[in-house]
Amino acid sequence: MSEDLKIIIGNKTEQYQSLIPQIKGLLDGEPDLIANLANICGALKEQFNWLWIGFYLVKKDELVLGPFQGPVACTRIKKGRGVCGTSWQKAETLIVPDVEKFPGHIACSSLSRSEIVVPIIRNHLVVGVLDADSLQTNQFDKTDQQFLEEIVSFISF
Ligand code: SME
Repeated sequence: MSEDLKIIIGNKTEQYQSLIPQIKGLLDGEPDLIANLANICGALKEQFNWLWIGFYLVKKDELVLGPFQGPVACTRIKKGRGVCGTSWQKAETLIVPDVEKFPGHIACSSLSRSEIVVPIIRNHLVVGVLDADSLQTNQFDKTDQQFLEEIVSFISF
């Protein structure tokens, strides 16, 4: 497939429905994890232009920064710390409508106002998380959760 992404104007569901087959195409036949995580970030950033989108991968007892798009970010997060570490600990997606109201939120960028973190679970273990940050409060909802969980299910670890 061509490496040009088709960006559409539409509601959130339409945007994900356009993007998902393109992400599948980008991952198809490519076994390299870093390449695939990088392209997922690129595709989501191009379509949605959130402040930050990226992966943290579980390495020993920490999350370590992986491929991302956006401002530089903190490199290591302990289990149970921040939104990412809490999502890892609970093994569930966390939607944070207002980061200032999430106790222990880690402000990698002072510009972030809302966030969603989706755990990547393989064999009942969290192997990483997908994290998205927005300049706006209330950016993320159940629709994002549904489609982002679908997108991380495509990743082969
Ligand atoms: N806000 C996250 C930290 C990662 S950055 O947003 C990229 C957290 O509280 O875990």
